[in-house]
Amino acid sequence: MISTIPGDLLGVLRSARHVVVLTGAGFSAESGVPTFREAQTGLWARFRPEELATPEAFARHPREVWDWYAWRRVLVAKARPHAGHRALVELARRVPTLTLITQNVDGLHQRSGCREVIELHGNLTRVRCAGTCGTSPLPESPDTLPPPCPCCGQPLRPDVVWFGESLPADALAQAWQAAGACDLLFSIGTSTLVYPAAALPEVALDAGASVVEVNPDETPLSRRATWCLRGKAASVLPLLLERTWAQEKGKPLQSDDD
Ligand code: APR
Repeated sequence: MISTIPGDLLGVLRSARHVVVLTGAGFSAESGVPTFREAQTGLWARFRPEELATPEAFARHPREVWDWYAWRRVLVAKARPHAGHRALVELARRVPTLTLITQNVDGLHQRSGCREVIELHGNLTRVRCAGTCGTSPLPESPDTLPPPCPCCGQPLRPDVVWFGESLPADALAQAWQAAGACDLLFSIGTSTLVYPAAALPEVALDAGASVVEVNPDETPLSRRATWCLRGKAASVLPLLLERTWAQEKGKPLQSDDD
């Protein structure tokens, strides 16, 4: 486990004006939500998401796809934000501007108290019409699964981005803009394999920002990142905050209870 943070990173973080944080499935791992690409524990070890997380799969097997997301919804409802989530809430209080961008669809950042989160891949707690009617409340005990859209009768589907689908244009534009304008970007718990999200650290580096990777393992970003902190989000982030601002008297690091 990591026990030191590079001294030059502490100085850069202390003086940063705009920090961007990009999170991926690894950020939720310590909350009990399995990641996508880890052979032993990832969701993909038990299921074949390429057969479930596509519009074609939903058209062919709507009930199976609905049930898979219903199962994940239950899993996420049981999960709790961890110390790393709370450290990001605290970081947002410490720096002038923080933009939090997530690829996760579990809503854990919001549940930990982050007010503004750019969700690149949607949110599985929401549903929307498979046609064009937009989002809809999740029916409590529908007669058929997937439930029909109350407006047009087409099936409701999870409000997430499936393979082969475009990301929400507003969210992507905001994320791109923030990555190009920040002075420091953290890439945490993501394999940086899935584009366009994986390009955001590159956008920041190309614009002259520093990039910190927080991940127990190497990723394609590791060789370009300014610093790599090899450890897990729930331990590295509280340590980073403690080391960066511990000297400041009268400012408790974590004012929220668990
Ligand atoms: N703390 C930090 N990083 C961790 C932790 C942890 N506790 N546990 C695992 N990781 C790292 C893994 O080493 C891996 O690099 O998190 C990463 C998870 O990678 P993926 O499972 O590929 O998740 P992600 O990068 O978010 O995937 C991107 O792919 O399937 C799509 O839409 C899905 O949003 C997802 C996207």
